Amino acid sequence: MQKSDLMEKVVSLCKRRGFIFQSSEIYGGLASAWDYGPLGAELKRNVKNAWWKAVVHERDDMVGLDASILMHPQVWKASGHTENFTDILVDCKKCKKRFRQDKIDGKCPECGANDFTDGRPFNLMIKTYLGAVEDQSSVCYMRPETAQGIFTNFINILDTTHRKLPFGVAQIGKAFRNEITPGNYTFRTREFEQMEIEYFIHPSEAEKSHQEWIDQRFNWYIHLGMKKENLRLRPHGSDELAHYAKGCTDIEYNFPFGWSELEGIANRADFDLKQHAEHSGKDMRYQDLVTQERFFPYIIEPSGGVDRATLAFLVDAYHEEEVKEATRVILRLSKELAPIKVAVLPLLKKNGGVVELAKQIKKDLQKDFVTVYDDTAAIGKLYRRQDEVGTFFCVTVDVQSLEDKQVTVRDRDTMAQERIPVENLRKYLTEKFSIGPA
Ligand code: GAP
Repeated sequence: MQKSDLMEKVVSLCKRRGFIFQSSEIYGGLASAWDYGPLGAELKRNVKNAWWKAVVHERDDMVGLDASILMHPQVWKASGHTENFTDILVDCKKCKKRFRQDKIDGKCPECGANDFTDGRPFNLMIKTYLGAVEDQSSVCYMRPETAQGIFTNFINILDTTHRKLPFGVAQIGKAFRNEITPGNYTFRTREFEQMEIEYFIHPSEAEKSHQEWIDQRFNWYIHLGMKKENLRLRPHGSDELAHYAKGCTDIEYNFPFGWSELEGIANRADFDLKQHAEHSGKDMRYQDLVTQERFFPYIIEPSGGVDRATLAFLVDAYHEEEVKEATRVILRLSKELAPIKVAVLPLLKKNGGVVELAKQIKKDLQKDFVTVYDDTAAIGKLYRRQDEVGTFFCVTVDVQSLEDKQVTVRDRDTMAQERIPVENLRKYLTEKFSIGPA
């Protein structure tokens, strides 16, 4: 399959089956803003849950946080965003279109001319006003990263959890950036969700910890079924490091539009806590109670995008194969990520007994697994529908089920079918879905 075809097919599947819709579509849509439909909402939630499980629940050294999107404007002064969070923009003098200077290669991508205005900085933070008066005193920003909520709560978390270094704080939440060139579907948008960790550590251990987090985060994607050959690590050159970073390695995915960043793992040194201490006047140092040493911890920051990860999982899972001269589309999502785990399908929707048993089975299974019931087409079509959204198992109820109290369980990937007694079904599926640590 051509790479450009793959992207088109994924986008079409996402729309057709309710993974992703364009925002405000009935009004012609809002450029680069997307809504997650019923299946997309499940998938995205599964991505976030898998991340939270791996980085918070399965570790002893991590806690969670859910900070607010709106923060005191001083936060962004201290963090450097007010001054440094800018792209350099130029205007094409011929067609008047505006571009990021670093994204053009001499010629205007729109009209081919090479006559541009001088570059000037454009701050990417989205500004708003709080309260009834819209003036300078009420200016506030939609957070451009979730990280700052963790730094500003560092002392609160220390005081309430009595943690000792090293420990980390994980957070998932929306972030906003007035991107000049959003695009590539959900890859670069102005509103997006981040999954960020700030891991606080003694400076002497920072390098080692940085490498451990790079490995841990790389393996997370693989554990969730992403193909290793589609992932790579890319250390940043010193000329591309963010203003706060001492070092950074990106995890990149081989998207149909090229290798692009999924997540960055940065060594932020002691930049953030020092900055906030200076701007707030609060002591944000950590004190080691054994050595009495008082210092600003270094921070290792694995920072990923929920939308980018979700898109990469979708692209990676998309698969076509020829079965009996027809194309079977399968989303080979992992057990953790598949939006629907089980579909219960009656073979004869006119048979009251079959329908009743199928509905009863659905009711029983949905306590443990996301389960759907569908009787709106013939069985072949029902299977294809479930395959293309990644449903792991189809349970088919037929006339014989009424007599022998058994159902057919069909595996999405192999299409192998097994007869399972109804009374063992929950146990059978529980075993199939049992998942090891990430
Ligand atoms: N706190 C560090 C930080 O925000 P970043 O590299 O600017 O670092 C981290 O962003 C991650 O957030 C990126 O790797 C990407 O997955 C996601 N991200 C950033 N900007 C995005 C955008 N405009 N649309 C979608 N995801 C974005």
